[in-house]
Amino acid sequence: MSTSANSYQTGFKPLTSTTGLPGSVGNTPLVKLNKLSQETKRNIYGKAEWMNPGGSVKDRAGLFFIEEAERRGLIKPGGTIVEGTAGNTGIGLAHIARAKGYQVVIYMPNTQAPIKIQTLRLLGCEVYPVPVVPFDNPENFNHLARKHAERLENAYWTNQFDNLDNREAHIRSTGPEIWEQLSGKVDGFTCSLGTGGTWCGTTRFLKQQNPSIKSFVAEPPGSCVYSYVKSGGKSLEKSGGSFTEGIGQGRITNNVAQDIELADDAVLIPDEESIVMLYRLLHEEGIYVGGTSALNVVAAARLAMELPEGSNVVTILADSAHKYADRIFSKTWLQSKNLYDVIPDELKKYATLD
Ligand SMILES: Cc1ncc(COP(=O)(O)O)c(C=O)c1O
Repeated sequence: MSTSANSYQTGFKPLTSTTGLPGSVGNTPLVKLNKLSQETKRNIYGKAEWMNPGGSVKDRAGLFFIEEAERRGLIKPGGTIVEGTAGNTGIGLAHIARAKGYQVVIYMPNTQAPIKIQTLRLLGCEVYPVPVVPFDNPENFNHLARKHAERLENAYWTNQFDNLDNREAHIRSTGPEIWEQLSGKVDGFTCSLGTGGTWCGTTRFLKQQNPSIKSFVAEPPGSCVYSYVKSGGKSLEKSGGSFTEGIGQGRITNNVAQDIELADDAVLIPDEESIVMLYRLLHEEGIYVGGTSALNVVAAARLAMELPEGSNVVTILADSAHKYADRIFSKTWLQSKNLYDVIPDELKKYATLD
């Protein structure tokens, strides 16, 4: 394993953004997960998306939505961006919008971590937490966002679930970055799907370079995409729920519909495995990430075991654990979800909150 002095020398690429904060989105490090790679005899890499300026992979879509809307003349200076988001897309949009002088209005399910709502408000957004209702109900947060934009002059509903600029952001940035970072030596890719933008765009790009790259859809309990892939598009069945936030769909979004036929397989990762990996990443790698990242790494290890020794498998470390810390490191919360006892004894010391 390299010393810190050596680590500074490996592939350092200075980035200067002459366009301000928007130009600092993307270009994130690809981090080899040393322990897991040793254990699996395959190289497992995580794309450090928490290092984006808004702290998540969703900054990429946020930036692309706004710049595409500008390019097409759909928003004028001083306008308002409206979105329905569980948090990270809103945070990404808020940073870019502030830098470019737009207002932001956010509708979100009222079940999300309170710190996400607070962060959006701190970033100057008008936030409406609303009750959770299915997509076919007109009161669903996405429809409320659309209607809000329709009521305003010079407003743009970014519509992250069905706006294909989302997936395009990853075709243009995440995919090419991974390809370059591994000099084209990519054997597998996997990540979980919220809107599906990250998985679809990255998979599309990588398979365009090399169709033999294996890409697995990784899903939490409660998502229909797993059964959709497993049934060859015949079933949308879903059951259960998950502590992960921002992933696990109840429908096939327009972004997902574009590329889902590219999935080589789907894996369903139980919360018990995701939480253990979350603690392992912290303990073994010093990597402090949220539940979706941990789930992605479990899926990457499963995919890796279906590939020959020495293969390179990439996944997404979507955001850090900060927003979720009061839950996932709380003994009481973990016990309430029956997740405390599954954590190995030597890792329980990280559950330091009551
Ligand atoms: C933490 C986290 N992980 C994963 C995702 C899923 O990304 P995508 O919407 O590109 O499928 C999201 C989406 O909001 C997220 O917030």
